[in-house]
Amino acid sequence: MITGKVVLILGANSDVAKQAIKLYAEQGCHVIAASRSTDELAVFVQQNIQATGQVTILYFDAVAFDTHQLFYNSLPAKPNIVLYAAGYLKNNEDAIQDWDACFRMMKVHYCGAVSIINIIIADAGNSGLERIIGLSSLSGVRGRKSNFIYGSTKSAFTQYLAGLRQYIAHRNITVNVIVAGYIRSKMTAGLNLTESLMLEPLFIAKAVVKPAKRFTIVPGFKWKMIYYILKLLPEQLVAKLP
Ligand SMILES: NC(=O)c1ccc[n+]([C@@H]2O[C@H](COP(=O)([O-])OP(=O)(O)OC[C@H]3O[C@@H](n4cnc5c(N)ncnc54)[C@H](OP(=O)(O)O)[C@@H]3O)[C@@H](O)[C@H]2O)c1
Repeated sequence: MITGKVVLILGANSDVAKQAIKLYAEQGCHVIAASRSTDELAVFVQQNIQATGQVTILYFDAVAFDTHQLFYNSLPAKPNIVLYAAGYLKNNEDAIQDWDACFRMMKVHYCGAVSIINIIIADAGNSGLERIIGLSSLSGVRGRKSNFIYGSTKSAFTQYLAGLRQYIAHRNITVNVIVAGYIRSKMTAGLNLTESLMLEPLFIAKAVVKPAKRFTIVPGFKWKMIYYILKLLPEQLVAKLP
């Protein structure tokens, strides 16, 4: 039986999402963890969640757009909270040469998110929907030569969420974007990133789970500073950044 708030996590095998599953479960929520990697997620739940019945694992592929309506219709309960965490990173140089990888970033970060979130908000019968959270990135704040492909897909996602927030405000649904810097996760494994700027998945997950009315949430003091500087920096100076 499902008790407590229902949290739907899309892309739930992400390292950040897995920490969010733990935190939401500790709060007594029922988590629907939706992922392509259902077996891996089942092992995680067995090893990390005391009341395993608090988590339902479902198959979800963000880029299989045609399946999204059926996926939503088949949910065991409609969500109060939605977290979109799916992500895919290909470095900029490779993405310029490799259209499939480039297109996959667009599909995972933007098209897939828009497809499923549109379906979720179109369900006017779900009066319990209260919050939608998207995991976006500082890479989406300004176009930069080293990562403008990944960055532009995250920027599109952020702008979708910004407009969505306005669109559904009258229904008392909060929309938040988590604008994250570097996170120590599968996605960044093997990348040469500044160690002092790395944030742990649990730290990001705490920012996700904490209720907040404001739209943009930038976890970590250093990244908040970087975010504000980046927002204000003149274009000629942004062009000098990597
Ligand atoms: N890591 C960073 O430095 C960083 C910084 C800013 C923002 N972010 C964003 O934060 C989010 C979480 O990333 P993370 O750091 O936790 O990395 P992660 O552990 O690599 O998680 C990314 C997850 O996205 C899932 N995914 C990819 N394509 C999918 C699809 N078609 N359908 C469903 N799920 C799909 C992957 O699923 P599988 O496990 O099945 O492959 C993976 O579990 C991402 O949106 C990422 O872009 C990350």
